[in-house]
Amino acid sequence: MADGATLRFGNKDTAFAVRSGTTGPDVIDIRKLYAQTGAFTFDPGFTSTASCESGLTFIDGDEGVLLHRGYPIEQLAEDSSFMEVSYLLLNGELPGKAELDRFSHTISRHTMLHEQLANFYRGFRRDAHPMAIMCGVVGALSAFYHDSTDISDPRQRMIASHRLIAKMPTIAAMAYKYSIGQPFIYPRNDLSYTHNFLRMTFGVPAEDYHVDPVVVRALDRIFILHADHEQNASTSTVRLAGSSGANPFACIAAGIACLWGPAHGGANEAALNMLREIGTPDRIPHYIARAKDKNDPFRLMGFGHRVYKNYDPRASVMQKTVREVLTALGVSDPVFDVALQLEEMALNDPYFIEKKLFPNVDFYSGIILSAMGFPTTMFTALFALARTVGWVAQWNEMISDPDQKIGRPRQLYTGPTRRDYVAVEAR
Ligand code: SDX
Repeated sequence: MADGATLRFGNKDTAFAVRSGTTGPDVIDIRKLYAQTGAFTFDPGFTSTASCESGLTFIDGDEGVLLHRGYPIEQLAEDSSFMEVSYLLLNGELPGKAELDRFSHTISRHTMLHEQLANFYRGFRRDAHPMAIMCGVVGALSAFYHDSTDISDPRQRMIASHRLIAKMPTIAAMAYKYSIGQPFIYPRNDLSYTHNFLRMTFGVPAEDYHVDPVVVRALDRIFILHADHEQNASTSTVRLAGSSGANPFACIAAGIACLWGPAHGGANEAALNMLREIGTPDRIPHYIARAKDKNDPFRLMGFGHRVYKNYDPRASVMQKTVREVLTALGVSDPVFDVALQLEEMALNDPYFIEKKLFPNVDFYSGIILSAMGFPTTMFTALFALARTVGWVAQWNEMISDPDQKIGRPRQLYTGPTRRDYVAVEAR
């Protein structure tokens, strides 16, 4: 580790402390930069800025490494469950069996919504995008659960966290049911978290719901892959909203809004739509050419990443899971063949090699979710469902951080300098 950093600005040298984490890049502590130099740093998009200290998730973008509380995502996806990973993210250690049973029991008993929240759905058009409904209904939770909005009370923070993790599947499933005109299905306490969600989504009152355990396991793994991801745009949105003291339900609603964007969580929906538009392998070169054309705004959706300059480890697990699910369901999807050939061609194209563009978590997920029966409009809602545990874990960490204060960036001002008002007659 460097023992410090010196900035020569004008004719003055200013020294700054350097801090090391347990792994990853060191940071230069510039909190006193403005006071000591009168200048700001300039970093739109925060490409070189650490916004906080965190112990939740570590990403090495060059090596394609993703750790949750030190555990590799590949091992968690293979051997763990979404409930266990949720406990790990919230509490910092893998639970013992009794702890996991207690946690799962607590979550399952928060899965029901206040009955009046069902009225919110009836205010939306049937063709409302599920993410619009998620933004509205999750934000409305703060109007119903006043006994868990005092962020200074660790007990209330944990109740709110459990409520959010537990109710997100119910809210997402209800959004889907509303869109197809079917009745809402209530959660069941005797089902696992993911099985419960599938039954609320695809079950009907007219008959018992049966689902292939391979599908339940695959969706649970997909939730694990989406649980948390360092200081991504939506997590940073949750942290910034939380830094003002806003209640947790409002903060998570802000995260949902940010995740919706096609450059972020909306990419899974956009990626499948793109693959379907390509349609056949012979059309791939045309789309790769468009992606490389600076004058064409088209980008390969599901490709590229701000941090990963190597293969997104989640995409590797996702590709394997596609094969498992398609085989279990006995279906073949020509879009999967297009995706595989598109990946192959892009990874061998100098443009993508030079810019280090690889498939990300969103490239394959839509193929699996579509095979499971989810419409593309539900894909980002599923991403939000899974990411909620990461958002609440990061929010709790931020609230507990003694260094945390309200986030308030500055700017490089390039507008008009001071000038006097001119009466309209004189203009
Ligand atoms: C997620 O941050 C996270 O951790 C997010 C996430 C999480 O779990 O929370 O991992 C989830 O959001 C994954 C990303 C999903 N988005 C997409 O798949 C949309 C397509 N990808 C891009 O729009 C882009 O790659 C981003 C937004 C993901 C990253 O953008 P950056 O880091 O700001 O990079 P950039 O836009 O500056 O691109 C660098 C260069 C540019 O070319 P030049 O201007 O240098 O000539 O690479 C090009 C870009 O034009 N480029 C692409 C491309 N992505 C980047 N060219 C074609 N196709 C692409 N997909």
